[in-house]
Amino acid sequence: MCGIIGATGDHDALEIVLEGLARLEYRGYDSAGVALITEEGIWRERSAHGTTSVAELVKLAESAPAVRRTGIGHTRWATHGHPTAGNAHPHLDCTGHLALVHNGIIENHTELAAALVARGHVLTSETDTEVVAHLIEEEIDGGLGLAEALRAALKAVRGAFSLAAVHRDEPTLIVAARRVSPLVVGLCEDETLLASDIPALLGRTRRVVTLDDDQLAELTPGHLRITTLDGDEVAVVERTVDWDLEAAEKEGYPDFMSKEIREQPHAVADTLLDRQAPDGTLVLDEVRLSDQSLREADKVFIVACGSSYHAAMVAKYAIERWTRLPTEVDIASEFRYRDPVLDERTLAVGVSQSGETVDTIQAMREARRWGAKVLVVSNVVDSSMAREADGVLYTRAGPEVGVAATKTYVAQIVALELVALKLAQLRGTLPPEEISALLGQLQTLPGLLERTLERSDAVDAVAGALHGARDFFFLGRNVGFPVALEGALKLKELSYLRAEGYPGGELKHGPIALIEPGTVVVAVATRNRLSEKMLSNIAEVKSRGATIVVVASDGDDATAAVADHVLWVPEVEPLLSPIIDAVPLQFLAYRLARLAGYDVDRPRNLAKTVTVE
Ligand code: F6R
Repeated sequence: MCGIIGATGDHDALEIVLEGLARLEYRGYDSAGVALITEEGIWRERSAHGTTSVAELVKLAESAPAVRRTGIGHTRWATHGHPTAGNAHPHLDCTGHLALVHNGIIENHTELAAALVARGHVLTSETDTEVVAHLIEEEIDGGLGLAEALRAALKAVRGAFSLAAVHRDEPTLIVAARRVSPLVVGLCEDETLLASDIPALLGRTRRVVTLDDDQLAELTPGHLRITTLDGDEVAVVERTVDWDLEAAEKEGYPDFMSKEIREQPHAVADTLLDRQAPDGTLVLDEVRLSDQSLREADKVFIVACGSSYHAAMVAKYAIERWTRLPTEVDIASEFRYRDPVLDERTLAVGVSQSGETVDTIQAMREARRWGAKVLVVSNVVDSSMAREADGVLYTRAGPEVGVAATKTYVAQIVALELVALKLAQLRGTLPPEEISALLGQLQTLPGLLERTLERSDAVDAVAGALHGARDFFFLGRNVGFPVALEGALKLKELSYLRAEGYPGGELKHGPIALIEPGTVVVAVATRNRLSEKMLSNIAEVKSRGATIVVVASDGDDATAAVADHVLWVPEVEPLLSPIIDAVPLQFLAYRLARLAGYDVDRPRNLAKTVTVE
């Protein structure tokens, strides 16, 4: 989720790179850097000033050498390593003659780094990226040119990447390669550009070539050569982009929310990357709590706000089922002002996309005062909560611009379920085969999410039929209950419609009085151990005239039969189902808001991060 830009040609590469970085800044990166090939060799500057990093770079660039025809730049969204200048890209090899930028995650960086250090390399950053610079260095030492050296180095690399590198000895060349993470080349008469995102190119050109997975590009002024990572030649297929800058920032989607909903398979896949040792054991290496202290915990207390709280509620079911540890979940602003029972054997878990929500920060401080160990699940590396915690597990959803949480919410559930499985492993509460099977199921989620995303048209049709309704109830049971709460929250915040989330069995204790013809009941009714009871709850509201929408598992005709509208989803292990079931409810809230003409990225009265009490 980092931004890459490169330029080689007759124009000032520094100016092009800085302009491209500024165009990528809207995502709110944490640091930025640039490297140029000059007559004296590689010139590099980096800055870690959050969203003002690029402005800082512009100042630093005043001291750059005058001739600068080839350069690469990067804006970073930290995943491995803190957001410091030392971890900002570009990274250099030991000679200082090679500079490299990277977007993605090098999964086997720990073993590669150990081997490189054993062979005498000096690694200066905490990043997963730097190993690639040193691998290329070895290939160049062995006599290869930069392009062949990158091709050879990548044979050792596992994971997702888009990479770009320059070398002093080939001063007009940029080499780039991609697997999973995006990369586009921009074509001009006398210069060739490279970027992770089209907006970075728009000031210069609209002629672009999109690289496919496992391709390597060689850019020289006015020329582009593409080969596969195996060395086969690939035809260059050019297209013209007609987006304006705003459309390009959204990558062609009408708003950030739809872009971020579509990014969910990626967010989940990246959050799962790198978490399992070859022998199948779970390695949560950003968790700085010792195995011993995790094993000794006799209670878990999860605290969060809003959507993060709903993710925490899902986690309670998983932790209690898989570890038999009593687990409490509380809203951060409530937790702080009551007398919660926790002590040094409690594992307190703070869940926060931003890591800056003041109520959750204060709740974690409160937990520490009680002596609890504090683990934070956050999407922002080095956020305030992450810095204060005893341990952190990062979701790797990338920056979320839309105010409503979508991809970060599903990534939180995945991260919390990894914590649950780790606890189960340490406590021996699940047999190893069952843990492997569950991890295997987690790995299927990105594919299942893709399949669910393909069904957005069907949700749009249901939204069209519901347009005009004012009152919604969302019902769920077991893990379906937090899904219902989250579905109702999305609808409230985006469409400004009255929406209540309830446990299916609770309605008859009062709220059922509100059901009348015209009320819409959205029932999260995917297959789980309470499916039959859920059907009875649906019958109760149907008989009082409600319009019934069900989220149902593929092929579950019995559930579909009681509904006016069905949102089908692929079936998955019930404790993982909230990750899939969230998607149609996100689409439903999104579409109803758009039909009403509302701005889904900036709903009224809301801020992305709530830093006041
Ligand atoms: C809802 C939403 C909010 C946040 C809440 C917590 O779509 O985004 O409810 O979930 O403000 O924010 P974080 O996770 O940053 O602590």
